[in-house]
Amino acid sequence: MTKKEIFENYDQFIFPTYTRMPVILVKGKGSVVTDIDGKKYLDFFPGWGVSNVGHCHPKVMAAVRDQIGKMIHVPNNFFHPNQARLAREIVNQTFPGKVFFCNSGAEANEAAIKFARIYGEGRRFEIITTLNSFHGRTLGALAATGQTKYQNGFQPLPGGFKTVPFNDIDALKFAITDKTVAIMLELIQGEGGINIASKEYVQEVRRICDEKNILLILDEVQTGIGRTGAMFAYKHFSVEPDVLTMAKGLGGGMPIGAMLAKKSIAHILKPGMHGTTFGGSPIVTKAAIGVFEAIAKEKMLKNARDMGEYLVRKLTELSHEFSFILEVRGLGLMIGVELSIEGKPVFDECLSQGLIINCTQGKVLRIMPALNITKKQADKALLILRNALQKVALS
Ligand SMILES: Cc1ncc(COP(=O)(O)O)c(C=O)c1O
Repeated sequence: MTKKEIFENYDQFIFPTYTRMPVILVKGKGSVVTDIDGKKYLDFFPGWGVSNVGHCHPKVMAAVRDQIGKMIHVPNNFFHPNQARLAREIVNQTFPGKVFFCNSGAEANEAAIKFARIYGEGRRFEIITTLNSFHGRTLGALAATGQTKYQNGFQPLPGGFKTVPFNDIDALKFAITDKTVAIMLELIQGEGGINIASKEYVQEVRRICDEKNILLILDEVQTGIGRTGAMFAYKHFSVEPDVLTMAKGLGGGMPIGAMLAKKSIAHILKPGMHGTTFGGSPIVTKAAIGVFEAIAKEKMLKNARDMGEYLVRKLTELSHEFSFILEVRGLGLMIGVELSIEGKPVFDECLSQGLIINCTQGKVLRIMPALNITKKQADKALLILRNALQKVALS
């Protein structure tokens, strides 16, 4: 197909639900992607946090290649070794508990929401979430999401959700009633603009949950799998959730999500209560095992911490040069650069100069490269970003 034909086919046959850049990507290796014309881009936002180990990581490719010739799908009324191994690995990386496998972040959150409903035994059902959160597009996850722009047009949404300002412990306490069964949080709001929860806030939320027998559900769909320099972001906060959701980076590009509930409560989800046909298929679970192996073998968590600190330091230097940079914030390689101007022109300029980043909430540049980026790649990205900022400043 020619470029023109591809665009025309999208136009004719695919719902325009996404805002797409006019770039057709055909290849990816590590932090470099190539478009149909052979132009290369440094990808500092690989798949919205999916390709944490870089595009086409050899461990992921080997896992998929090995599995595809053996068995592609095993229905969940049978057993498969890969699912068992991955569940054990997730528990090893987190806390004793049980895993439910699904195919996306929204589904992982749906599983958590249903888990909370069961936990509440019909008497308690309210889940408190935060303003500017993002939990996914299915109706339950959407009702949990604290941003009306995603909800408009889809009402009535499932009931039982309350939204309070982020990082505001008094508002949270005020919202709790005898119907509250869970508090659902992102520790760093990704889509909401890289807003980082304070340690005191998270620890106080944990304390309240313990005191009132409320579940703490942490949505680590974006912050998980090494993104913040720890395997899961909650490790920075010295708390453990009761329920943890993950997806994005878990499969190294393969579609997989998971919900983990701690051991003491895991028994409440019983046969027939929840399910999904494709959940935890042999290929995606094998790919995810490859992801964990790659992160450990290549010491990617340390690299994410080191490169994260480096990027934040260098971006902060840029903020002295460009007065429209209001703040640089981040943890590991989950970084936001808040501007006082619209970020889209900066994003566009970066793209045309061969750097992929993201812009969220209109004015926050979101930078989330693979965990294994090199200093050379970081420097190249910084140079392109600086050029882009300069160009926008002069326009
Ligand atoms: C924190 C968070 N939760 C849930 C989701 C939804 O994940 P998915 O798009 O895989 O359904 C996202 C996606 O951006 C996310 O960032």
